[in-house]
Amino acid sequence: MISRVSRSVPVRFGVLIAALGGLATAAICWQQVAGEQRAGLEDLERRANLLAYRLSPATLRALRLPEEQIAPAMADRLEGHSRLLGFAVCAVDGRILAAGAGVPEFEPRMQEAVMQAAQTAQENAALSRGPAGYTHVLARPVLDDQGSVRGVLVVLHDAVYLDDRLTRGMLRGVIWTAGVTLTLLLFSSGFAWALFERPLHRLEEWMRRLRFGAAHEAPPRGLAVGRLADESEHLAASFRAARSREREEAESVMRSERAWTRERLRAHAVDALGGQQLVVVSNREPYMHQLREGRPQLVTPASGLVTALDPVLRACGGLWVAHGAGDADRQTANASGCIAVPPADPRYTLRRVWLTREEEQGYYYGFSNEGLWPLCHLTHERPVFRASDWDQYVRANRRFADAVLEEIGGENAVVMVQDYQLALVPGMLKERRPDLRVGIFWHIPWPNAEAFRICPYRVEILHGMLGADLIGFHLQQHCNNFLDTVDRMVEARLDWDRFAADLKGHTALVRPFPISVQSWSEKGVAAGDELTGQVARLRQQHGLEGVRIGVGVDRIDYTKGIAERFRALDRFFEKHPEHRGNFTFVQLGAPSRTHIPRYRDLVNELEAMADAINWKHRTESWKPIVFLVGHHDARTVYGFMRAASLCIVSSLHDGMNLVAKEYVAARGEGGVEGEGGDGTSADGAGVLILSEFAGAARDLPEAVIVNPYDTEEFAEAIRQGVEMDGREQRRRMTRMRVRVEENNIYRWAADFLGALAHAHGKPDQPVGGRP
Ligand code: F6P
Repeated sequence: MISRVSRSVPVRFGVLIAALGGLATAAICWQQVAGEQRAGLEDLERRANLLAYRLSPATLRALRLPEEQIAPAMADRLEGHSRLLGFAVCAVDGRILAAGAGVPEFEPRMQEAVMQAAQTAQENAALSRGPAGYTHVLARPVLDDQGSVRGVLVVLHDAVYLDDRLTRGMLRGVIWTAGVTLTLLLFSSGFAWALFERPLHRLEEWMRRLRFGAAHEAPPRGLAVGRLADESEHLAASFRAARSREREEAESVMRSERAWTRERLRAHAVDALGGQQLVVVSNREPYMHQLREGRPQLVTPASGLVTALDPVLRACGGLWVAHGAGDADRQTANASGCIAVPPADPRYTLRRVWLTREEEQGYYYGFSNEGLWPLCHLTHERPVFRASDWDQYVRANRRFADAVLEEIGGENAVVMVQDYQLALVPGMLKERRPDLRVGIFWHIPWPNAEAFRICPYRVEILHGMLGADLIGFHLQQHCNNFLDTVDRMVEARLDWDRFAADLKGHTALVRPFPISVQSWSEKGVAAGDELTGQVARLRQQHGLEGVRIGVGVDRIDYTKGIAERFRALDRFFEKHPEHRGNFTFVQLGAPSRTHIPRYRDLVNELEAMADAINWKHRTESWKPIVFLVGHHDARTVYGFMRAASLCIVSSLHDGMNLVAKEYVAARGEGGVEGEGGDGTSADGAGVLILSEFAGAARDLPEAVIVNPYDTEEFAEAIRQGVEMDGREQRRRMTRMRVRVEENNIYRWAADFLGALAHAHGKPDQPVGGRP
């Protein structure tokens, strides 16, 4: 269909150009013919005038004679020759008194001109048409000395030749017009075909071949539009990269008959690390000590990054370098800031980095979370970039890099740098130890180049990241955005086929690694009767007995779309009052970054919203929203996820959002607690309502996908989720669970470590590197 339409384009273009050219030619020819006609007529008039002028004195003399002598007196002067038909002398009443031989037959045509000339005493000329063609009549009054009209002298010309000239001119015009039109039609259609149709046709053919596997064929040459040529190069490269990855994934799936487990990762890591130490560097520490009533208490921070990486280090052992942010962190670590973790069952070392208050303010709250965070999340929050924050960011990054180098000493190591707080660390490490294997994983989205370019320190950040051997994102889209950003802002050589950037001779590969979770049972959460009892206690404690539960688990952050979620719940209860009293939504919200006014205000705003909605819809024994602000441990989160037949993840923009995967993982494990008569929690059912703007939506398409900004659609999704029948819930949930179990956090780490092993020092390795 498309090609049929496009094939007629050159013809249509040609017809348009030819029609315009033809019209212009016809107009020019017509002008020319009309001009020639005018000139011919003027010439004829001039000649008739001259003849009449010359004959006038003789005519006057003859008119003074008696009428019967006039003809003899003029006899030899009235005959014509060639185009001059002859003369006539008429009386003032129009009668012919004397005339040349052929003149009388034209009498009817002369009459009007003669009478006019006699009456007005003015010369009169006319072109009249008869059966034989045009005749030109000039009637000149003959005046006596007193100025009275004595008669009229007529000069008659045959003007047929003007007619012939007109016909010839018109014919010439038609031939020209037809010639020009035809030529233009041929040339412009041919031109359009050669310049657009043929290259596009070739592009279409090439795309078809690309689709069916000829991935290594270069795009056709000669595309008229340069940008289109560039884009097709990129398209081909992305396609080749995707194909290659697909093949490797397929091979990898075929190879892996067993699921990825802690043990399997450990064995794989031994290979991938080649005897080197694994070092993770992040801002957030996996275990934090806070003072509670004067005594240090262990806290596990609410962080997707910690959820993902703690199991990896537990499996592989090694070192985790992170900011010691807890107020009891110093007293629980040794003199060099190290502590074996998890404290109850040590598997690896946590090295805490100490930052001054100014450093923490500028680096963490300022540049990282008021600058880069809103820059990378498209949530209409304006980023703030202060030079002083940037200075602290550089200084803090240097501290993390120094801590890593200090810990590894002269040894070799594989370093996995985590996230946007530490963008400069890869470059800093490589500057001092080019032999280290360094990867960075960016846990948040990477925006498009246009959005990123507003950052005043964009070049420094890109240089820092490009120091890594491997740069990971959750989604291919983020990889594309990143490479495009590098392309536009840094003098690096890009290899779109391998998805790699070369800066000053160092190659960084860019790959997607969608992050995931471990199973809940590995986290030591309750099971069986213990879980049933825990769920019953939670229900009782929060007044949730006998109702169906929905749950949301988030850091309190404007990117998480909690306000949009509350708004949709409000609308849901407005539109469906029949659900009042039988469905309650529990929101677990961990306060976060509260030194930043926007975050502090958000906690208050959300509390006020929840209060207002509760006030509007509540009954004596029921309220729609239970908003629990605080840090909730894994057991509590799991308890709620097991109890809830519905979970809402409504991020406005998110790299992945592991809460979605945690809920899916929670719905398949043992333990029966289907209280409240919902009957779905007990048997692997449950509904996930998931924002289309969270990376997880790519991995979990069976969720009920919503646009959190669309309150009506969102409220309808909640209704759909609350009313969905058990079979449909289980059908969807089973598919999601199988995927999350297969692609768990161990597989993510194995993929990343494998790719890092291949990436380092082997710039010619093909795409992939999956185990
Ligand atoms: O997932 C993105 C992320 O910023 C992680 O880097 C971080 O651990 C988590 O969110 C929580 O944020 P914060 O560490 O600032 O509390």
